Amino acid sequence: MNQSTLSQFPRSFLWGASTSAYQVEGAWNEDGKGPSVIDMSQVPEGVTDFKVASDHYHHYKEDVALMAELGLKAYRFSVAWTRIFPKGDGEINHKGVAFYNNLINELIQYGIEPILTIYHFDLPYSLQQRGGWSNRETADAFAFYCETLFKLYGDRVKYWLTINEQNMMILHGDLIGTKKVDELNPVKDLYQQNHHMLLAQAKAMILCHEILPDAKIGPAPNISAIYPASPKPEDVLAANSFSAIRNWLYLDMAVYGRYNATAISYLRAQDALPEILPGDMAIMARAKPDFIAFNYYNTHVIAESPVDFNLAGKTGDQQVTIGEAGVYKGCDNPYLVKNEFGWEIDPVGFRTTMREIYERYALPLIVTENGLGAFDKVEEDGSVYDGYRIDFLQQHIDQIQAAITDGVDVFGYCPWSAIDLVSTHQGCSKRYGFIHVDREEFDVKSLKRSKKASFYWYQSLIKNNTSEVSD
Ligand code: BG6
Repeated sequence: MNQSTLSQFPRSFLWGASTSAYQVEGAWNEDGKGPSVIDMSQVPEGVTDFKVASDHYHHYKEDVALMAELGLKAYRFSVAWTRIFPKGDGEINHKGVAFYNNLINELIQYGIEPILTIYHFDLPYSLQQRGGWSNRETADAFAFYCETLFKLYGDRVKYWLTINEQNMMILHGDLIGTKKVDELNPVKDLYQQNHHMLLAQAKAMILCHEILPDAKIGPAPNISAIYPASPKPEDVLAANSFSAIRNWLYLDMAVYGRYNATAISYLRAQDALPEILPGDMAIMARAKPDFIAFNYYNTHVIAESPVDFNLAGKTGDQQVTIGEAGVYKGCDNPYLVKNEFGWEIDPVGFRTTMREIYERYALPLIVTENGLGAFDKVEEDGSVYDGYRIDFLQQHIDQIQAAITDGVDVFGYCPWSAIDLVSTHQGCSKRYGFIHVDREEFDVKSLKRSKKASFYWYQSLIKNNTSEVSD
């Protein structure tokens, strides 16, 4: 659908950027921080762990000053649960509390809106040892942690995100380092964990509204439009199933407080229905998000999957779908190019995704991740000419403007990532940032910060609140 006139970005539009605690902070065991499941998981061979990351913990002032120079209106970051509660619950760690107080104050001093993710993959290891998300008590520990954050930081933080990409922790937790399931009944246990996380999220939303009536809170899943591989009805049905399992299961619960029917049918077929205790669904129904935050990287193409679909030796990730025998099968999209890590690039699919979410839930949207992972090259004078990243972001921003013109209420865009950090499973040579960090996979070097070409480009875009848009 071509648009003759495009709506402008609202003046209040939150041009931002994102990071997560474990991928950027480092200082993994400093100042009383307890270990998380990420700290205790095995990283793939050939890539760095998260112990130093970009050392933002020690560089936060310099980093926030650079974000201010970039012109950011918002910064989406996460709190490391184990800096606040080293064991997940119990005794509070005052040095961890102070770190986020300082970070938030620093942001506010520069007029940057803090957007706080409560939990981004780094479950306290101590809670994992007590059963992790398989144990209902983890939902209570989460609620207590949330209540603590609301009371500590709620005087300055207006935007809260509950759980980053719960759907990816369920579907790709083995790769991300978050998954630990019962060996005898792995799928059932996985979706029991999912139920407890949904319950935890609902409790967080209720508490937020009780404690901070003026604050806004929302979920932050990874959402992608799903294309059928062909008009063949079986392909369309498989695409519809995958949408329900990957996308709508999470958002239907967050917004409507009910399980998606297709997802439930899928779980029943696998004997993986979660145990739902009396009162759970009432809590889910009472919890209401104020907006939907979502991460978008690309779309997926889905075909019907044979019952004997052989998955041996095939692994997907957040943005590469392999499939499940008899349910859905991922395919390449011949109309799209891929980035250096095999992720297809689909700006138009971004517009479709925004429309689908908005049509379904009619809540304001904020994009909390979108970006291009690439092997950046540092020139002799230290410059990084990441024109490919500028192209990627420009094309996606164009599609936000098109979606706004379509009538979708999008109030912010926080690309991944503000600064170079460590990827979930592909190390720190896969870079996303506007700000370069001088380090290599196994040599942390000077950790010096420098501005990439994309920094200057985004700075000008934010300043002008506009972007050149093509249909
Ligand atoms: C999202 C996560 O899945 O994608 C981030 O929320 C992650 O934590 C981002 O870093 C990019 O993925 P990757 O695997 O390249 O780090």
